[in-house]
Amino acid sequence: MSELKDSLFDLNFFTAQELVPDPYPYFDELREKGPVTREPHMGVYAVTGHAEAVSVFKDTENFSSCISATGPYPGLPFTPDSDDISAQIEKHRSELPLHEHMVTMDPPDHTRARSLLSRLLTPRRIQENEEFMTRLADRYIDTFLANGSTELMHDYAKPFALLTIADFLGVPEEDHEEFQIALGSPRPGARPGALDLEVMADNPLQWLDDKFSAYIEDRRSAPRGDVLTGLAEAKYKDGSTPEVIEVVRTATFLFAAGQETTTKLISAALRIIAERPDLQQQLRDDPDLIPLFVEETLRIESPVKSAFRVARRDTTVGDVHVPVGSTVMVCPGAVNRDPDQFPESETFDVNRTNVREHLAFGRGIHSCPGSPLARVEGRVTIEKFLDRMDDIRLSEAHHGPAGERRFDYEPTYILRGVTNLHLDFTPKEGGAA
Ligand code: HEM
Repeated sequence: MSELKDSLFDLNFFTAQELVPDPYPYFDELREKGPVTREPHMGVYAVTGHAEAVSVFKDTENFSSCISATGPYPGLPFTPDSDDISAQIEKHRSELPLHEHMVTMDPPDHTRARSLLSRLLTPRRIQENEEFMTRLADRYIDTFLANGSTELMHDYAKPFALLTIADFLGVPEEDHEEFQIALGSPRPGARPGALDLEVMADNPLQWLDDKFSAYIEDRRSAPRGDVLTGLAEAKYKDGSTPEVIEVVRTATFLFAAGQETTTKLISAALRIIAERPDLQQQLRDDPDLIPLFVEETLRIESPVKSAFRVARRDTTVGDVHVPVGSTVMVCPGAVNRDPDQFPESETFDVNRTNVREHLAFGRGIHSCPGSPLARVEGRVTIEKFLDRMDDIRLSEAHHGPAGERRFDYEPTYILRGVTNLHLDFTPKEGGAA
């Protein structure tokens, strides 16, 4: 075992495809060296301890988020030249990937960008969105229920996650199919020839920017009391009106941040349900456990494996010195299995009392604003699948027999999740929507 671990540790986490199917032995190895460890290849400080991760997430004085979503590639576009690189970060910020989106911003720009979202994230909007999700879940399940099998990502998770965000932002339902086509999302059950525009946009994010610019400009000139009007009329806390592009970026980034992550939560949850008939029965007997089941899934299979920060100045995390300019990698995928925080952390325990302390959604000012949606997406999906299907199980034809399962994972060091999940099940008598 220790030989295996040694060889894993020698691999470069950022490029080693061997770590994609199972990064956890590598995370354990890092943690055994300490809750904060300097990774040898890129010189990145890996944070695997829970308390240390919370302290990094909350410390915006000493850490910048400017590389949050990309990490050590491509790295900083400058060489640190002083003991406080805050001014250098500001000077070069526009050269960094995703610099126009809130996830890479620092206060005060981040505070302004995020304040626009609060107008949308009201309990009423989330409730309306849940009603839409419930109808949507039934609609997609209808397309495959009678087959007794499904490829979950194509038939359900991807279109479900995309259209949930579209609805959340108030995109009119008549435009939903256009979004699916332009963003290259599957359209199970689409009527052939329903739309002529059978092409994915060359640049989906640009397409979204253009589409939302048109919506926002339209609603500013002719308000009509819908959700998009609310977004178009949102003001900053100081009473000033944002530029159209600032509102648009807020909207488009939700598509970027909320799709892949949520599809990974849904596939992880259904994979666990399919592997564990005992747990499946427990959830059927007591559906009130489903929200806890979703939390425990987020803990044990965190869709975001790693989020990054840069040290603005020399600082300390735990008892490790982190020099100015260092990249710090906080690993929710590892932190959420920290045994000091979560006893028997490798065991899936739906009754875990402190499960909500997981960091799957981060912490602090950048903590995921989409978490209420993601949680409801997970819960509604599980409720509907259990309601309409009996005996949900993995397809042995695609994933092999128990004990010899095969899965394909997205080849990335940032996200964790399978590329496809084939399920078999028995359609329930009276399981119609
Ligand atoms: C299971 C699903 C999801 C997971 C695991 C997840 C995870 C995360 C994490 C870890 C962060 C913090 C990144 C950092 O601190 O650097 C984050 C930020 C963010 N997420 Fe999510 N997310 C999920 C779903 C969503 C959804 C559905 C939306 C939108 C509807 C969304 C929108 C965002 C946005 C806009 C940010 C940036 C917030 C900021 O910088 O202030 N996420 N997410």
